[in-house]
Amino acid sequence: MIRRKLTILGATGTIGINTLDVVAMYPDRFRVVALTGQNQVERLATQCRQFKPRYAVVTDPARARELRQLLADTETEVLCGERALEEVASLPEVDTVMAAIVGAAGLRPALAAARAGKRILLANKETLVMAGRFFMQTVRRGGATLLPIDSEHNAVFQCLPEPFSGDLATHGVRRILLTASGGPFRTRPLETLAAVTPEEAVAHPNWVMGRKISVDSATMMNKGLEVIEAHWLFNARADQIEVVIHPESIVHSMVEYLDGSVLAQLSNPDMRTPIAHALAYPDRIEAGVPWLDLPRMRQLSFETPDTRRFPCLALAYRALEIGGGAPTVLNAANEVAVQAFLERRIPYPAIAQTLERCLVRLGDRTAEELDALVALDQESRALAEALIAQYA
Ligand SMILES: NC(=O)c1ccc[n+]([C@@H]2O[C@H](COP(=O)([O-])OP(=O)(O)OC[C@H]3O[C@@H](n4cnc5c(N)ncnc54)[C@H](OP(=O)(O)O)[C@@H]3O)[C@@H](O)[C@H]2O)c1
Repeated sequence: MIRRKLTILGATGTIGINTLDVVAMYPDRFRVVALTGQNQVERLATQCRQFKPRYAVVTDPARARELRQLLADTETEVLCGERALEEVASLPEVDTVMAAIVGAAGLRPALAAARAGKRILLANKETLVMAGRFFMQTVRRGGATLLPIDSEHNAVFQCLPEPFSGDLATHGVRRILLTASGGPFRTRPLETLAAVTPEEAVAHPNWVMGRKISVDSATMMNKGLEVIEAHWLFNARADQIEVVIHPESIVHSMVEYLDGSVLAQLSNPDMRTPIAHALAYPDRIEAGVPWLDLPRMRQLSFETPDTRRFPCLALAYRALEIGGGAPTVLNAANEVAVQAFLERRIPYPAIAQTLERCLVRLGDRTAEELDALVALDQESRALAEALIAQYA
């Protein structure tokens, strides 16, 4: 058994905490070398006391000072700044990097891990949405290995033949069926959606997640981002990726083969399952997740998403079909619009409206290299902010 040496980017978030939960079960299998956080300094300090990493990173100097005081009597060295995130993602003594920072801030550290040829457990879907082509090239050139953490992509990965290379047709796959819970507003009367509050939007029926991804689940933008993520991970065209609403969140996604077979991965909705799968891959380990009790499920249901209710999903397909810089624009505008909604600066329907207007204005841009992608990301954010200011 190889003892994996880990950097966990975004250790203080939902994915980070779940990862450490699994890691704590196997001290002989995993050693934590670096942990990173942003605002939750006390939580990061507690994690450092438990897992004794060599490095802890936060990007803000004041928070770094606070963390140094909290860890003064320990061996953990506190590093500060965005470059430090890249450094701990590419340390020679680290072989595995959990990329679980939320949003575009996760891109550069994930790229650093790719360049350094690490085994990357990719939770940060924004990396693939914002810079899919560039990131996949970097993974190939760096000799890195990519293991998806998003439960849907992890499910698809488990249902595809191994090793997967080339495209879906090479492996006799007709299409990928990504499941979606439909979020908290799946059955809410359409005419009441304008009055949705941030508290209602973050109250997901099946999953406990960070605030941004919870709003993305309510709008189904999360599924839209996942469609784009699946495109890059599995070399799938937009018409080979179908979204199916599955409110019970037991089937995490499926792969349909040309002979009519559909393979599915099922488990309780708990991120420790895909995390444990990727951490131990190709071994299998217990994840601390309750066993699935199928007779108690009674029914598993499926339905087609209504794009009037979920316009963000249609916008993501549109961005994927436009290609070029359109997904980058969509992702940046979405981060800004979701934040504005959480801060009550815009009503719920304005999230989709802002995205559509940004796509119309900037969707035809092309951007291939990192600097161009980052510039387009910034321009889209500025445009989204300007559009949001009009609501006030
Ligand atoms: N949660 C899920 O079930 C789930 C499932 C699939 C995929 N994902 C994806 O996984 C990623 C993480 O999601 P999450 O739910 O764990 O998010 P989260 O709970 O909000 O945690 C985000 C983590 O990133 C850190 N962070 C935030 N902004 C940062 C910045 N500018 N620079 C450096 N670090 C920063 C946070 O630090 P502080 O908390 O200390 O501020 C925290 O550790 C997202 O891309 C999400 O789409 C999540």
